[in-house]
Amino acid sequence: MDPRRSRKLDRLSKHLGGKVEIYAKREDCNSGLAFGGNKLRKLEYIIPDAIASNADTLVTIGGVQSNHTRMVAAVAAKIGMKCLLVQESWVLHEDAVYDRVGNILLSRIMGAEVRLVDEGFDIGIRRSWEQALDEVKSRGGRPYAIPAGASVHKYGGLGYVGLAEEVRAQEKQLGFAFDYIVVCTVTGSTHAGMLVGFAKDGRQRDVLGIDASATPPKPRRRC
Ligand SMILES: Cc1ncc(COP(=O)(O)O)c(C=O)c1O
Repeated sequence: MDPRRSRKLDRLSKHLGGKVEIYAKREDCNSGLAFGGNKLRKLEYIIPDAIASNADTLVTIGGVQSNHTRMVAAVAAKIGMKCLLVQESWVLHEDAVYDRVGNILLSRIMGAEVRLVDEGFDIGIRRSWEQALDEVKSRGGRPYAIPAGASVHKYGGLGYVGLAEEVRAQEKQLGFAFDYIVVCTVTGSTHAGMLVGFAKDGRQRDVLGIDASATPPKPRRRC
């Protein structure tokens, strides 16, 4: 069975009163790479473009524990590119080892060069990221620029159009269509790609984005 299929969450459905049936799409199983997750699909169309551009270094940005930067590091390691990650202080934390464990540790193990920058949350184009791109060039490298969450990249949302295709295929097998598709939204391209994908059968208004950044106007501008 395809591990990415949506699985029914019987106990959660029951816990919520038993009047709704909740399924979860297993995006953590969407690849064998570094725990997968939504960030992998964002790179599905970006990486062929990076290879075609003859770049040798992927340069991206996120918070210290960003899932996106971890996946860019994983893909760079997989295809033999270098990787420079700018990690800003987007989330307040008190943990003394916050910048030495979890995703950032994995990125380091996978060979990425990690740059910690003391700037607060912003998903726009950042000076620190532009400086990293300039620095790779000044070292004689060929950078490929991937913005925060890949969301202002022209191919950033495309992989999630494909997710809608997968869901439609599974709905056919299940014999029913989901009433709502609920997604976590931060930089916006996961949600935007799904809107386009589900618009094919007129269901774009059934895709509900839950803003997890506490800055709803920013992702909304990108959708
Ligand atoms: C696990 C997970 N789900 C969803 C999101 C939201 O994705 P996007 O940045 O495309 O809005 C993120 C990213 O912040 C994430 O890490």
